[in-house]
Amino acid sequence: MRLIIFGPPGAGKGTQASRISSRHGLLHISTGDMLRAAVREGTQLGRLAKSYMDKGELVPDDVVFGIIKDRITKADSKDGFMLDGFPRTIPQAKALDRMLGEEGLKIGAVISIEVDDEEVVKRISGRRVCEKCGAMYHIIFDPPKNSGYCDKCDGKLYQRDDDSEDVVRNRLRVYRKQTEPLKEYYEKTGILKVVRGTGTVEEVFSEIERILEKLN
Ligand code: AP5
Ligand code: MG
Repeated sequence: MRLIIFGPPGAGKGTQASRISSRHGLLHISTGDMLRAAVREGTQLGRLAKSYMDKGELVPDDVVFGIIKDRITKADSKDGFMLDGFPRTIPQAKALDRMLGEEGLKIGAVISIEVDDEEVVKRISGRRVCEKCGAMYHIIFDPPKNSGYCDKCDGKLYQRDDDSEDVVRNRLRVYRKQTEPLKEYYEKTGILKVVRGTGTVEEVFSEIERILEKLN
């Protein structure tokens, strides 16, 4: 199975992708997580990516596609994967289709999680992430048992650098302008599946599960 988990910032892509990955053992590939890892490591890629991410702008297509290409040609991607945060522009989508097409492969479904802008701002402003294992929380909707610390590994929780309200508003603008047109691109090939993202995490997950059942 090859899936794309699509949607605006804060829609719950990462949250749902990690559930799908636990339930189905599907490899979860997040460009945002890979770029943040490069920023933490202080590599040349990380320094370049940070200059875009801190403003809520997209990292250039060729850079992101290079990372994805390296990742999905690794042996563990052979049996399928789920892309979270990629593609984000028409050129990225076309490059992905071209690359998979050369191997006789294609994307099975694009699951678009739909959430409005005010919900995005609420979700992102309360998001906390574990610095050790990457687990995600929300101070109101999904709080950790011990405030400030991860339930799973006791790691410290932090707020992402690009989660301030002004940067989030720009990420939303960028999404509507550069990324949302991809819905039409995938609708044309009949693989776009729309999910209402405003229910609880469980409700959204059940809806995604119903879509996945029909694919199998
Ligand atoms: P990326 O890391 O991909 O960020 P994003 O798309 O802005 O999305 P988020 O990770 O913020 O949100 P999410 O949808 O994963 O929601 P989450 O599950 O965390 O990208 C960051 C940056 O990297 C980009 O701005 C860009 O600069 C660069 N980049 C990455 N990919 C790129 C690409 N392909 N091309 C170019 N540049 C790229 O949930 C959010 C919060 O809500 C959490 O606290 C969670 O607990 C809570 N929550 C989740 N679901 C629910 C629910 N149903 N009800 C209540 N709360 C919920
Ligand atoms: Mg995410």
